[in-house]
Amino acid sequence: MEKRILIVYAGRYGSTAGVAEAIGQELRHSGAMVEVYPAKDVTEMSSYDAVIVGSAIHFGNWLPEAVKFVERHKEGLSHIPVAYFLTCLDLTRVPEETGRAASIYLDPLLGHPPQAEGRLSVWEKMHLLPSFMNSVRKTAPQVKPVSIGVFRGKLDDSELRLTHRLLIKLGSLFTKRIPEGDFRNWQAIRAWAASLYAVLLQQGRPNVEGRHKNMNTKNTNTNASQEKLPLDYFVFVFALAVPFWLFGGGKLPLPINLPVAALVTFVPMIAAALLSYRQHGLTGVKRLFKKAWDYRNTRQGIWYVPVLFLAPVIYVSSYAVMRLTGLPLPDPITIPVQLAPVLFALFFISDTGEELGWSGYAIDPIQNRWGAVKASLILGVVWAIWHTIPFVQTGNSATWVAWQGLKTVAMRMVIIWLYNKTGKSVFAATLFHTADNVSWSLFPNYGSHYDPFVTGLMTWVAAGIVIIGWGSKTVARYRHAEQAKR
Ligand SMILES: Cc1cc2nc3c(=O)[nH]c(=O)nc-3n(C[C@H](O)[C@H](O)[C@H](O)COP(=O)(O)O)c2cc1C
Repeated sequence: MEKRILIVYAGRYGSTAGVAEAIGQELRHSGAMVEVYPAKDVTEMSSYDAVIVGSAIHFGNWLPEAVKFVERHKEGLSHIPVAYFLTCLDLTRVPEETGRAASIYLDPLLGHPPQAEGRLSVWEKMHLLPSFMNSVRKTAPQVKPVSIGVFRGKLDDSELRLTHRLLIKLGSLFTKRIPEGDFRNWQAIRAWAASLYAVLLQQGRPNVEGRHKNMNTKNTNTNASQEKLPLDYFVFVFALAVPFWLFGGGKLPLPINLPVAALVTFVPMIAAALLSYRQHGLTGVKRLFKKAWDYRNTRQGIWYVPVLFLAPVIYVSSYAVMRLTGLPLPDPITIPVQLAPVLFALFFISDTGEELGWSGYAIDPIQNRWGAVKASLILGVVWAIWHTIPFVQTGNSATWVAWQGLKTVAMRMVIIWLYNKTGKSVFAATLFHTADNVSWSLFPNYGSHYDPFVTGLMTWVAAGIVIIGWGSKTVARYRHAEQAKR
């Protein structure tokens, strides 16, 4: 099962948030389930295997929200692997103290040695790593980080509020150590994050029962609920769809055959938004909607090749199979390519409505429980059942609906594979879904000769290849995680 890592951070001007996201991405690529939140938004953390707390250094100290987070959760944090990271612009580099429990990773380009030998200025003392750690060490001495990463941050004078600008200007009169610019060293940040996966998870998840007993029980158990299967999402997604199914029999004014019930496409997003609101308030909703544009999750652009072109390849091969086997096709065929951009835009909007629910909300808790292959089968079946009414309302035969249902399951498997490969990008899942919808709409003529049996078969071939490659990797990763635990 994938390990769950919580990253919380405190910053004022967004640069620490950016570092937290980059660490999260790197850990996701290593195979962990990662959630990244501002420290002030997190009330509960008992469902995570490890926690990373980050803060910007302002005036030589951690920001208060981060210190408060550690203080609030010190008991729980003392029972699981914890790492800290800091962003700042200066650090006094002295030979490393020995005997520290934490391994320390300093951005190689950060900081200066003391100016005078044997004597530290006030600024230099303030910028020793132990000085940075003072507040948190005092408030939560029992929390022993397994690693501390210290990175250069960013300072943009034009973004600063007036008091901060004045204080920085004043500070600059005495020291030249707070330069303006974006100095974040992504390579160093990612290198630390990559090393962190093993360091954090080697510690395992000790004494879970004891840890839970020690947790602050008055908190609402919001994150633990995400570990459960999203049954409430399934109830919502079906219940909210009923009015569309009952009253949506008419046709939409589009050149392709789509019923009004197709507007049900926004129901998964609505269901996910309502549940996110229930769990995390407005922050949860904002976080959900941000996923619609999470293309930054994808580090290897090459994955956009299957995201964009696998569906067209499936449809072109379907056409070839139909031609070769003499299945009915129109003559001459019409492929309204000029419509493609409009269709793409329309479907991208509607498919975002679907994917924010299925990929953005529902899949991860199921994957956590059962692994990716089983989870995609389960979600695929639910997704296919959910589509049945619109398929019937479009006037299709029972056989057509049955084959289309099977094709839908295979589609979901491919979507989840791409979602996982692109660093859990809902944007990538949506693009693939859009490419599929555009492809069937352009299938000769205006989708009228689309055959779900043939295209379903082709999609299952793609899903089969994915399962064979993916299944073995899932097993390998599981074994690796088990070894790391020992
Ligand atoms: C008001 C203010 C005070 C700061 N004080 C320090 C400091 O004492 N030492 C330091 O090395 N960097 C200092 N910095 C630089 C920040 O640590 C750095 O800009 C960090 O990336 C800010 O993160 P944020 O954008 O998330 O707020 C300060 C920045 C600001 C805006």
